[in-house]
Amino acid sequence: MEYTFLKIEQHDQIAVMKVSAPKSLNALNSTVLKEIDDFVSNLDTKQTRVLIITGDGEKAFVAGADISEMVHLYEKEGYEFSKLGAIAFRKIETLPIPVIAAVNGFCLGGGCELAMACDFRYASSKAKFGQPEVGLGITPGFSGTYRLAKLVGQGYAKEMIYTGKAIRADEALRIGLVNAVYEPEELMDKVMETAQKMVANAPLAIAYAKQCINESYDLIADDAIELENTAFGKCFATEDQKEGMTAFLEKRPAKFVGK
Ligand code: HXC
Repeated sequence: MEYTFLKIEQHDQIAVMKVSAPKSLNALNSTVLKEIDDFVSNLDTKQTRVLIITGDGEKAFVAGADISEMVHLYEKEGYEFSKLGAIAFRKIETLPIPVIAAVNGFCLGGGCELAMACDFRYASSKAKFGQPEVGLGITPGFSGTYRLAKLVGQGYAKEMIYTGKAIRADEALRIGLVNAVYEPEELMDKVMETAQKMVANAPLAIAYAKQCINESYDLIADDAIELENTAFGKCFATEDQKEGMTAFLEKRPAKFVGK
């Protein structure tokens, strides 16, 4: 599929997906959402071991869902628009590879929700985060009420969502919405550096760990612990476990093949 609103770069085993809608600060219209869904659905996660999501240009990651499209919607279409983004973002969240958001500017509404569907976020010092939806007469609709509360706790999530205020990157760091803040010109290098470290590790082990972390959120303790026991056991059915441990004992770097 040819994309109108996505720019895709491949750096060996690391893919970069840039949302690119320059006239609207990369706002998410339904075509962008379908393109994101298509890209994620067809991503070859054997070849691509880390996905980085960012915004095109210097000003915005994503300034939200496209208000000029939403203004015309009624209840049924509103539900469908919400669902379209929610499904695409859930696919991002459940990809069997790490997904890092490189938040390079405005990260508002649906943009913040896109960033929160990623495994974690690094931000430029110029980034601004917020869920301004209630100021437009709507709620967050791409799973922001769910993920923001889980990420930063209900107190901060409710404060951000009820006030609609935007917070700076240092505040986002303080409340745990982002993992690190860098100068704008450093951001991509730092994200790439982290991605490279992940590429060097065993992909199936990362996939199992991601699945355990994601799924254990919604499980009771005994089930979460059992899920981890099972994943741990499955690692011993992989070539990469034999290679990782043998390489350690032979004092050489491991070469993982993802099997
Ligand atoms: C459509 C948008 C947009 C958006 C910006 N633009 N954000 N268009 N949808 N979400 C457009 C502007 O209309 C403008 O178009 C151009 O991008 C540049 O933006 P400016 O406002 O001129 O830039 P600036 O003054 O620097 O202000 C930046 C900004 C502001 C603070 C980010 O644009 C802003 O408040 N945007 C809306 C943010 C927002 O409310 N996001 C949440 C949307 S609701 P023109 O044609 O004038 O140049 C949402 C719901 C998600 O995300 C769930 C859905 C189910």
